Amino acid sequence: YVDLIPKYYKGTVKELLMKADETGKLDEIVEEFGLKNILNRDIKTLSGGELQIMAIAATFLKEADFYFFDEPSSYLDIVKRLFIAKRIRELAKKANVFVVEHDLAVLDFLADIVYILYGEPGAYGIVSNPRHVRNAINAFLLGYLDSENVRIRKDEIRFEIHPPKPPEDKGESLLEFRDIRVSFNTGFTLKASGGILYKGEVIGVVGPNAIGKTTLIRVLAGEIKPDEGFVSVKATVSYKPQYVKIEIDGTVEDYLRTILGMHYDTGFFQNEILHPLGLKRILHKEVANLSGGETQLVAIAACLGKPADIYLLDEPSAYLDASQRMEVSKIIKRIIEKQKAAGMIVDHDIYFIDMISDSLLVFSGEPGVHGEAQGPYDLHRGMNEFLRNIDITFRRDPETGRPRVNKPGSRLDREQKAIGEYYYTSFL
Ligand SMILES: Nc1ncnc2c1ncn2[C@@H]1O[C@H](COP(=O)(O)OP(=O)(O)OP(=O)(O)O)[C@@H](O)[C@H]1O
Ligand SMILES: [Mg+2]
Repeated sequence: YVDLIPKYYKGTVKELLMKADETGKLDEIVEEFGLKNILNRDIKTLSGGELQIMAIAATFLKEADFYFFDEPSSYLDIVKRLFIAKRIRELAKKANVFVVEHDLAVLDFLADIVYILYGEPGAYGIVSNPRHVRNAINAFLLGYLDSENVRIRKDEIRFEIHPPKPPEDKGESLLEFRDIRVSFNTGFTLKASGGILYKGEVIGVVGPNAIGKTTLIRVLAGEIKPDEGFVSVKATVSYKPQYVKIEIDGTVEDYLRTILGMHYDTGFFQNEILHPLGLKRILHKEVANLSGGETQLVAIAACLGKPADIYLLDEPSAYLDASQRMEVSKIIKRIIEKQKAAGMIVDHDIYFIDMISDSLLVFSGEPGVHGEAQGPYDLHRGMNEFLRNIDITFRRDPETGRPRVNKPGSRLDREQKAIGEYYYTSFL
């Protein structure tokens, strides 16, 4: 969990990397991984993506026969995910590399052989026979391993293809911001010209790493006072930060009861949140012993269980597997509809964003230096603006509907770019 690095390591990025370096290739790696701008930064002020890329660079600086990467894609933006997939493939030419990964689009690019782990979460796990990557991904999604003759999940994971709805008439406004500016002493500046969040609406927030997404959400949550601009929040807010810290001694149930009080026992919380998130089986676990995915689910439950009009969630999909991501996107949508609330959700998982958002706030700029929020646009336009900025198009896997990154310059990539449809191929 890269979020824990600042807790155990005090110092700058450069100091950490120098300590890790056994190859003498520090300068080369710094250049290649795009770390120049953050070398002298204190680790505790890094964004999620900056922390992750630093941790991956440090691993590359070690001399080893075996390299292990545990969920290297979490917190990275799409461009960086593809970059590290490529870089890990190169590393595998000279050493053995072992990667644990939830992002199937990344796995697609980086692995030759895949082992699927299945079983009963929190109780036992079994490692499958090795499979070639595409077979493995399809077997995993299908939920059935043919050579072992085992069903690993009740249902198949299906990716839906839904052309975005045309924008509807908006209801009552719950939150409004205008001409926001935030500057940090590290030299980063955020600009957001404005936006309105309406009742019943979910705004997805997308953009590269270190571009100001978390900073804007913190401004809206009231954690950071902007240097300039206007924020008006006409409703109650519940906020899940990107780095989840649950600092209590006690069980999951103790924690959720502390946060939610009497709301913990309501049918609504039990049936709409706790049960569908699969948290019942870990209620008696100590919070301190939870896995990354479990911690994330508990934090999501705590955020959604608080009665509020506005739910702000910063990277809820991090550390979750593909089926948990789908479940979480449905739960968030359902709760926002039922409570007649609204939400703003930052995420790097394009499918998750597609499922959950009505409109999109799109960040662009120069990571670590300045970021600007544009929109909110309707989903169709927003997705195209965002993917045009990063020059990536997606197609759908014909068997599973899973979004897959097109190879740059391939026929589909060229065709889609020519007509400006970067994601919704149903418009082709
Ligand atoms: N408290 C702070 N003090 C100084 N610099 C900060 C602080 N918080 C964030 N930054 C810097 O501001 C920039 C934007 O950070 P932010 O966390 O908003 O990015 P982000 O878009 O959420 O990125 P990610 O996708 O990696 O989470 C980054 O370069 C980050 O290092
Ligand atoms: Mg962030």
